[in-house]
Amino acid sequence: MKRFAGVIAVTLMLTGLACWIAAPSQAATAAKISFARGSPLLKEKPLKIVAMAPKGSLHNPYDGNAKMAKEGHALFMSYGCSGCHGGGGGGGMCPPLINGVWIYGGSDDTLFRLISLGSQKLTQKGYQREALENVVGPMPEMGVVIKQSSDLWKIITWIRSAYDGPPNHKYH
Ligand code: HEC
Repeated sequence: MKRFAGVIAVTLMLTGLACWIAAPSQAATAAKISFARGSPLLKEKPLKIVAMAPKGSLHNPYDGNAKMAKEGHALFMSYGCSGCHGGGGGGGMCPPLINGVWIYGGSDDTLFRLISLGSQKLTQKGYQREALENVVGPMPEMGVVIKQSSDLWKIITWIRSAYDGPPNHKYH
């Protein structure tokens, strides 16, 4: 048991170190894409955004906004995410979205791309699995049905608001 705890501590330390090393380089390479109020990008299809935006440049303009989170939950239900991830995002047939585990990383940029492209296309673009959830399977390319990027940002806002993992892991 003690040894097990030691392994976990070392893993957490290494994960923390990796985030620390990755963060400055990402910030240096990608200028932030603006989704300011009234921006035409908010009405653009998520797949178009993903194709044009450099890696690391996507940031959620609604993060922390309770009204957007509420709308995001309605969209989460209507786009059928709940069928796989459960109505509360706690998982079901498919992995939970609100625990402390992010399969490909938990940044806004990565989540936007994963949900738009699906896991197969995401990995074809060089993204790698960083963690394992209790269930493993392909995440579909939901960008083909999500009408506009603002819908996806609202959904991500809701996922963040429902998050109940360790606070320091919310965005990593
Ligand atoms: C057909 C079932 C299915 C549907 C529908 C679906 N997903 Fe997924 N989703 C998955 C699976 C399976 C994975 C895990 C992928 C992997 O392990 O590579 C996943 C992974 C994810 C992740 C990463 C979770 C983590 O812990 O890192 C997020 C976020 C996500 N989905 C959001 C959504 C959203 C938002 C929608 C709706 C727009 C949606 N999913 C629709 C099956 C689904």
